[in-house]
Amino acid sequence: MSCRMAGTALLRHLGPRLFTAEPVSGLAGRGLVPAAARILPARMSSTAAEAAKEPAATEQHGGSTNKPKPAAPDGQDSKKGIVSYWGIEPRKLAKEDGTEWRWFCFRPWDTYRADTSIDMKKHHEPRALPDKLAYLLVRSLIVPKQLFFQRRHASHALLLETVAAVPGMVGGMLLHLRSLRRFEHSGGWIRALLEEAENERMHLMTFLEVAQPRWWERALVLAAQGVYFNAYFVAYLASPKFAHRFVGYLEEEAVHSYTEYLKDLEAGLIENTPAPAIAIDYWRLPADARLKDVVTVVRADEAHHRDVNHFASDIHYQGMKLKDTPAPLGYH
Ligand SMILES: [Fe+2]
Ligand SMILES: [Fe+2]
Repeated sequence: MSCRMAGTALLRHLGPRLFTAEPVSGLAGRGLVPAAARILPARMSSTAAEAAKEPAATEQHGGSTNKPKPAAPDGQDSKKGIVSYWGIEPRKLAKEDGTEWRWFCFRPWDTYRADTSIDMKKHHEPRALPDKLAYLLVRSLIVPKQLFFQRRHASHALLLETVAAVPGMVGGMLLHLRSLRRFEHSGGWIRALLEEAENERMHLMTFLEVAQPRWWERALVLAAQGVYFNAYFVAYLASPKFAHRFVGYLEEEAVHSYTEYLKDLEAGLIENTPAPAIAIDYWRLPADARLKDVVTVVRADEAHHRDVNHFASDIHYQGMKLKDTPAPLGYH
């Protein structure tokens, strides 16, 4: 088999797994879904699509009583039957204004108002060798980033968030395993780091409503995630103080990038479109919020991640342990 034939066969096999937003199974796997659903997978996962997938919810927040119901007879409404049998049907909620709660990926108690008064200019001066190395590494990424994205801020944000959501998950996972292994408390750091990862992923879901990744950007993310996850995993095992410092500098750079995004929005170089619905609900923004408001709260989140990670690194530098220093919980 020639290389070309082998490549075509591999792409045919892996393509749907790597580049679709939904699992490929059932009708989709047998090629019975409309062709458009496979050609435009990302569009199928947009806010509008999410709303269509989620059932109408009419009960007030906290007022639902979902008692298990008898299972449906065989072959009749089997999906509903399975949910009822196990009694794990998600609670149906409503917003404060009485309208339906549209999101299952986050719930009303996950929402918050970002602290936009946070200092955007804070910087940790690298002095020790690991700090200088971490700083150099982040700085070395800036030139290719500028060449690649120039002022395509939404595309840059989309790809940046796919990377930014990795360290919190890796750090949280490793601290979780350490807690189990050593029979010890975590000081809240497992939750704090997992919250950070989830917050970054919500940034990604938000910018997905503003820009769509091209196929080669999806491929780039795939490769970058494979490398970055493993590299960060090893770095965190070897030196948590270096790993947190690296993320601290990465977040400093994220703050800078979103500041540039805001400047272009203010200058009218980018259209200040209405804020995506998911952002309005997640950050409790006013109904008439615009993209500029969204970028402002995302930037505030990045500044908070910057401070948390520099703080975590400082704890290690001072010979203390994360588990003995209460984590900054409750920001998200
Ligand atoms: Fe982010
Ligand atoms: Fe961040």
